[in-house]
Amino acid sequence: MVNNREQALEALHDQVRACKLCPLYVGRTHAVPGDGPVNATLMFIGEAPGFHEDQQGIPFVGAAGRFLNELLEKAGIDRGVVYITNVIKCRPPGNREPQIEEVDVCAPYLDQQIEIINPQVIVTLGRYSMNRAFPDEKVSVVHGQPRKVNGRVYFPMYHPAAALHQPSLRSTVEADFSRLRALLDGEVIPEEFTPPPDVEQLSLF
Ligand code: URA
Repeated sequence: MVNNREQALEALHDQVRACKLCPLYVGRTHAVPGDGPVNATLMFIGEAPGFHEDQQGIPFVGAAGRFLNELLEKAGIDRGVVYITNVIKCRPPGNREPQIEEVDVCAPYLDQQIEIINPQVIVTLGRYSMNRAFPDEKVSVVHGQPRKVNGRVYFPMYHPAAALHQPSLRSTVEADFSRLRALLDGEVIPEEFTPPPDVEQLSLF
């Protein structure tokens, strides 16, 4: 069974490596499909590959990756057992932010990764990956709070690069990793999120 899934994931990685669906392929050295075992129960989703990721074809191997490794180690999570990927798989020129069309065209790859790996918990790093699950939220408001969406548990966090650029965020990110640890250790997850009734509905009562 794992073998079939392994093959499906490898075939998907190959598809990403050959992808020419958006203009980002022109400037890439390597596409960066994702890294980790197909049976990972924990999945991290970042934003987009940077310089070092583009050079090596592996996600989170630059400065943000080193910080992510540190956070994982402190939380007692082995990077070798988690799956790490990004919302878009090719480096935007000059590390600019991903554009909506790039996110849209790349989305089916991420959807298939989630389907094949079927992780118990998805950690979103930064707003691009968080917005896939919670389109109207802000990382500054919801970080560190696990939430179920369509039967999946999401755990939104700041992007590690944000804490590198803004050192005051470092302790927040570290605290969120401790919460992630607690979640993995069996902390109860709130039931499926349902938005509060809007003002019009409230006025009926
Ligand atoms: N930042 C990301 O969002 N992803 C990477 O792979 C590296 C840095």
